[in-house]
Amino acid sequence: MANVVVVGAQFGDEGKAKVTDLLAKNADVVVRYQGGCNAGHTVVVDGNTYKFQLIPSGILYKGTVCILGPGMVIDPKQFLEELKNLKARGLDASGLRMSAGAHVTMPYHLAIDSAEETSRGEFKIGTTKRGIGPTYADKCARTGIRVEDLLDRKVLKAKLDWLVPNKNVVLERLYNLPPFKASEILEEYSEYAKQLAQYVCDTSAIIFQSVQERKNILFEGAQGTLLDLDHGSYPYVTSSSPSAGGACTGAGIGPTIIDRVIGVSKAYMTRVGEGPFPTEQTGEAGEKLRQTGKAWAEVGVVTGRPRRCGWFDCVLARYAVRVNGLDCLAITKLDVLDEFDEIKVCVAYRNLETGETHNELPSIGSSFSKMEAIYKSFPGWKKSTSSCRSSKELPKEAQNYLNFLADDLNCPIAIVSVGPKRDQTIIIEDPIHGPKRVLTRAG
Ligand code: GDP
Ligand code: IMO
Ligand code: MG
Repeated sequence: MANVVVVGAQFGDEGKAKVTDLLAKNADVVVRYQGGCNAGHTVVVDGNTYKFQLIPSGILYKGTVCILGPGMVIDPKQFLEELKNLKARGLDASGLRMSAGAHVTMPYHLAIDSAEETSRGEFKIGTTKRGIGPTYADKCARTGIRVEDLLDRKVLKAKLDWLVPNKNVVLERLYNLPPFKASEILEEYSEYAKQLAQYVCDTSAIIFQSVQERKNILFEGAQGTLLDLDHGSYPYVTSSSPSAGGACTGAGIGPTIIDRVIGVSKAYMTRVGEGPFPTEQTGEAGEKLRQTGKAWAEVGVVTGRPRRCGWFDCVLARYAVRVNGLDCLAITKLDVLDEFDEIKVCVAYRNLETGETHNELPSIGSSFSKMEAIYKSFPGWKKSTSSCRSSKELPKEAQNYLNFLADDLNCPIAIVSVGPKRDQTIIIEDPIHGPKRVLTRAG
């Protein structure tokens, strides 16, 4: 294989885990490089549905080394719960490794995430309330607790004795919430530390060793490009770097190690939480996408919130091709469009205030919310695609739809997914060894 990054090219929930699972078959190491238990990654195998939040999807393959990288934020309670459930289902966790440098979500982070969201009023982000933002904020402020701190009771005590009174000022004075006791957190989290210790190590060293041994490494992105802290629809983003560049800092590797970047997009689009969504359909079409998609879980895996639904947005997809340097795309959930008479695709934006047309995203910040979608319309195929296993078997209209996307985005579609199961997949071209799309001096 090669060293491959799988990245969400939309607002998250694109079906990254299904694609990761497909590719993980030939991977020796699977690495999560950012995010935490805000992620909900679904893999369906032999009628069994697995939902991963912190643990890499590669854990389904026995013997695969599965790494929680230093760019992640880890809620130990959630991690141990997820691990317990997976073990109860007979999964082998011997390949699991956790970076000593990953940051730990503490109980005050969860309380602050919820309180902040409530206080934001009309500016709320719609977070998953898993403490993600506050944990990364402490990391940046250099007041975070890392996994290695958790393992050293003395260090943990010293840090908690300093930090908890500070957090309590915020909780009590700003939000009128009860304070935490440092001594109670110390006892509870020292217990978690004992259970985590066996997994903790320098994961960057393992990855580097694997590179040198020519092993195949898969980097599993969480969230999506438009939720990226730097490149997403700020402030309606998560607090980490889901896009491909994040794989380097989040895993502790250099960019030279990455051979290939695969973007995952739905054949339409969804978003959970607040923020601009130019192709959102609140009427009949959106409801139909939600209902059809719902049979396949168009509700958030983590929070159970209904996902907002809309048409495929080429402007955003072109942007995702650019900021990730995508080599190819996996298009998922084509089957959800099976029943539509007409399928729309956003090809450009119109600024609602100035009337100007934009083929490229003018700004991903505040002016994004002023953009109205300009659509191109395609006839639906009105046939089931879920049993198609080659592009030739797809209805002509579906082939035309996919060809249009590949041309417009100037990015080949290597994989098409027509259902949640492993075999409901069409390989159009080799996703790993196909030609390099981005022209480099070497290319
Ligand atoms: P992720 O967070 O990107 O891994 O995606 P999620 O697991 O949150 O959401 C994707 C949902 O779509 C899951 O329920 C998958 O089982 C399902 N899924 C993935 N690919 C397909 C597909 O091609 N068709 C259908 N109908 N469902 C799919
Ligand atoms: P996966 O990996 C979809 C969204 C939240 C909210 C924003 C910030 O399954 O694709 P946060 O809790 O991270 O501070 O919330 O980001 N969000 C996701 N949306 N899929 C996810 O993960 C998401 N993780 C966070 O809904 O809008
Ligand atoms: Mg998800």
